[in-house]
Amino acid sequence: MSSRDPNATHRGPARHGGVGRSTGVSAPEMGTVTSVDTERYAYSVRTMAGQNLPGLQRKRSSPSDLAVLPVGTTVLVRFDLNFAYIDGVLSMPAEEATDTGIPVTGGSEASVNALTQNYATGTFRSNGEPSDLVAGDDVRGNASGARVGVLEGGIAVLMGSLLSQIRAHSLRNLIEIIARNYRMVTDMGEFKIDNRDGRVNMSFRGASDQASESGATEQNWTIRMDLGAIGDLFNFELTTPEGQTLFKMHVDSNGRCSIFGLDGVVLQSGARSGEPAVTEQGGNSRDIVRGDREVLTDGNASNVVQGNSVRTVDGNETSSVGNDSAAAAVRDWGVSAGRDVSVTAGGKHTTTVNDGDCSTKVGQVTKPNGQYTVETLRGRILLKSLQGGNIDLETLSGQAKVSARKIMLNATGADSVVLGGEALVAHLARFEQLEILVNALFTHFDAHTHPTPSGASGIPTVGMKLVLGRLVSAIKSLRVGVAG
Ligand SMILES: [Fe+2]
Repeated sequence: MSSRDPNATHRGPARHGGVGRSTGVSAPEMGTVTSVDTERYAYSVRTMAGQNLPGLQRKRSSPSDLAVLPVGTTVLVRFDLNFAYIDGVLSMPAEEATDTGIPVTGGSEASVNALTQNYATGTFRSNGEPSDLVAGDDVRGNASGARVGVLEGGIAVLMGSLLSQIRAHSLRNLIEIIARNYRMVTDMGEFKIDNRDGRVNMSFRGASDQASESGATEQNWTIRMDLGAIGDLFNFELTTPEGQTLFKMHVDSNGRCSIFGLDGVVLQSGARSGEPAVTEQGGNSRDIVRGDREVLTDGNASNVVQGNSVRTVDGNETSSVGNDSAAAAVRDWGVSAGRDVSVTAGGKHTTTVNDGDCSTKVGQVTKPNGQYTVETLRGRILLKSLQGGNIDLETLSGQAKVSARKIMLNATGADSVVLGGEALVAHLARFEQLEILVNALFTHFDAHTHPTPSGASGIPTVGMKLVLGRLVSAIKSLRVGVAG
């Protein structure tokens, strides 16, 4: 504040204004500051006697005492140095304070107006002066509530208001910073706590390179942190000076957390005490890998899906098991290949069908010529029905061919082997028995006679066996025989 007393017209080199007295010493007087010249730290004072004294200096306690007296201050004016000066301030408000004062410590109601009420007249505190001081407290301050104080009990106070202060306590060696809003500026950046209509936010804007990022003329913040209303609810971000996000961690007010790392995110969990690393999703989960994926498990692995499971591989898939492998389905199990299927068993291969038919089909209408081959090297091929089921080899328009060193049709029942059809029409002749029969015919023929009037004739002159006997052996099949 700067104002000039219209009565102080003197602007010359004399320091003490026009009222300096060169001779004689007057008694001190009380007066009231009417104006302040802040350029010269000079005051105009109207004395109780009605005299206007312009350009007065005040006596300071030290060169560092820079307090400027406000208009209305009651002062003591002395003249004993042959010029008028303000010797000090008299705290003599004319009336009792009407407010509760602006306390230094935010003290209790008991201290309110204590000074005011203890004295009847003349020593009131002024409005705005603290009402919670005790003997021994040393406080500087103004009526706006700004304070610098040293308090009994070992407390140092620096405050603009009760909600903007720093306190240092000898008790517990405690330092308190009390602020409704807070701001700290360093070479690294700016830290702030803002209260905007009750919406509070803690923020930090900073950078690691003062030359190109965090300087006062740069402010290309590469470190950003917001906790509270603006961060909704917590946001920490590292960027390039151009603003490209390098890393970001965000937690919203619903409790959803997201972490982004431009060059990857590495999560490592040790097992010093044997505790497991736990990752749990309460709801749905989506795992997207834009590149390759590798999962390495040194121990056992278990994957349990309580619902359905779908696995799709667009390329090739290879599964290699160092020991046993088993696949089981409670209901149907299907394997489909667009091309070849190869099953190789190093040991046995057993297929068991417990309930239902077993069918193998080769070929289709468009490709009917598929072959079906069952091969062994020296082992037996067995088609067996344990409880009397039929075994059919059927090709209605093709051939059935059995090639073997020896073929046995081991049918034990009567009429149990039928060739050339399903119904037995005639029985097969047995060669050895037929040979006996034919030889018996030869013998009988070659020995028979005919009765004549002259007695029995002689036997045939040409024996049948002699003529036809050589044909009998040709009837015998050299490879096919019957059991009975
Ligand atoms: Fe005959």
